[in-house]
Amino acid sequence: MNTLIRNGIVITAQETFRADVRIRHGVIVEIAASIDAGPGDASVVDAEGLFVMPGGVDVHTHLDMPFMGTVSSDDFETGTAAAAAGGTTTIIDFVIPGRAQPLTEALEGWQEKARGKAMVDYGFHMALVEYNDQVAAGMAEVVAKGVTSFKCFLAYKGALMVEDHEFLDVLATARKHGALVQVHAENGDMLDWLTAKLREEGKLEARYHAEAHPEVAEGEAVSRAIALAGVADQPLYIVHLSCGDGLDWIRLARAQGQEVYCETCPQYLVLDSSVYQENGFEAAKWVMSPPLREEGNPEDLWAGLRDGSIQCLATDHCSFNFEGQKDMGRDDFTKIPNGAPGVGDRMNIVWTAGVNSGLITPNRFVELTATNPARLFGLAPRKGSIAVGADGDVIVFDPKKEGMISAKTSKHRCDYSAFEGFSLMGLPEVVLSRGEVIARDGEVVGKPGRGEFLPRAPFSGGE
Ligand code: URP
Ligand code: ZN
Ligand code: ZN
Repeated sequence: MNTLIRNGIVITAQETFRADVRIRHGVIVEIAASIDAGPGDASVVDAEGLFVMPGGVDVHTHLDMPFMGTVSSDDFETGTAAAAAGGTTTIIDFVIPGRAQPLTEALEGWQEKARGKAMVDYGFHMALVEYNDQVAAGMAEVVAKGVTSFKCFLAYKGALMVEDHEFLDVLATARKHGALVQVHAENGDMLDWLTAKLREEGKLEARYHAEAHPEVAEGEAVSRAIALAGVADQPLYIVHLSCGDGLDWIRLARAQGQEVYCETCPQYLVLDSSVYQENGFEAAKWVMSPPLREEGNPEDLWAGLRDGSIQCLATDHCSFNFEGQKDMGRDDFTKIPNGAPGVGDRMNIVWTAGVNSGLITPNRFVELTATNPARLFGLAPRKGSIAVGADGDVIVFDPKKEGMISAKTSKHRCDYSAFEGFSLMGLPEVVLSRGEVIARDGEVVGKPGRGEFLPRAPFSGGE
């Protein structure tokens, strides 16, 4: 697609400058102070007074995922449409293989879910729920297919959790193939012990989910995962970091020269655990793992985003309807499917809460939401930047436009929003993927199925 974006202010991770941007055949071919529209420029976008930034890269989504007795409510069609409307033009979703299922077969299953449905480009991480010779062979096979990151869970015992010796084997095997290992860091045994105790005490209301998942369970698992990655001499990426305790361990490791990266998510930045106390069974809307944390933690995480200890902002988008899914756990919080929607909200929330309040600069916003995720997960230089040769994945962003998050207007296929009533200032006006307009003024205009699978390069270092 050929498009010329004129008169905008380009914001990259490094700099801010006024320029026109020409996209030809889906790729940025020219960035200059002034570019004349030529016969090949099928459409011209006037970005006067607007910011021109790379489309968001969300490296943590769960679309169409079977989980806790149900399936996440957004599939690749609705989830990627919501992403597009909210300025995210690339996602990386998690393949979750069954036990003993060949990894290539599981990958093909997820490819099938996305094919013909995805509106934005997508890649996959592979979760590993066990380690054995078949898994080791499968890891090599999926890396060859462009799946260059593996996630292990230190929680969800009896379902997804791996033991420490398996995690070490994953780290060592990933190292051979240049893959990055991600970890869900909560101590599964501690969670199960606390859950059993709460059950004995008859404490099964939704709010007790947070008590069953204390900060110490995350802090311990972060420190253990770091120790294990150190022993294996392998880089590590911690997903959905929610608390200052975990962040302290990451800071310490990084200060000692260990290659540890992490992401946090908007819910941990703009919400806190007060929602569990105040809302009866409505608390189920925020039942996620890790849970929302006590006051003070969001401030710690913002500090980590500012000082570089946290490199990425993702969503952990995992939507379940309140009616018909979350309410499976009305009498027992352990039966509430864990997760919340957010892929369409990330860019706008972080701009409003982070940039508008001066907590991060616009350049850091770009770095956290697009450039770093693309680089860490083998998508750079194609994704995550406004540069000649990069894909024409661009958001033309109006920093003055106001809005409010509501399930009624959200493009997520979910009957509630975790951020209902959150006021926004700064919204994408036009969203382009490979030069094609896929959303305009919050409305989706792209076609399902236009998104392409992105085979990713091996991990090549983050900074
Ligand atoms: O509660 C969450 N986070 N659900 C999705 C699965 C995961 O742990 O990432
Ligand atoms: Zn997780
Ligand atoms: Zn997740």
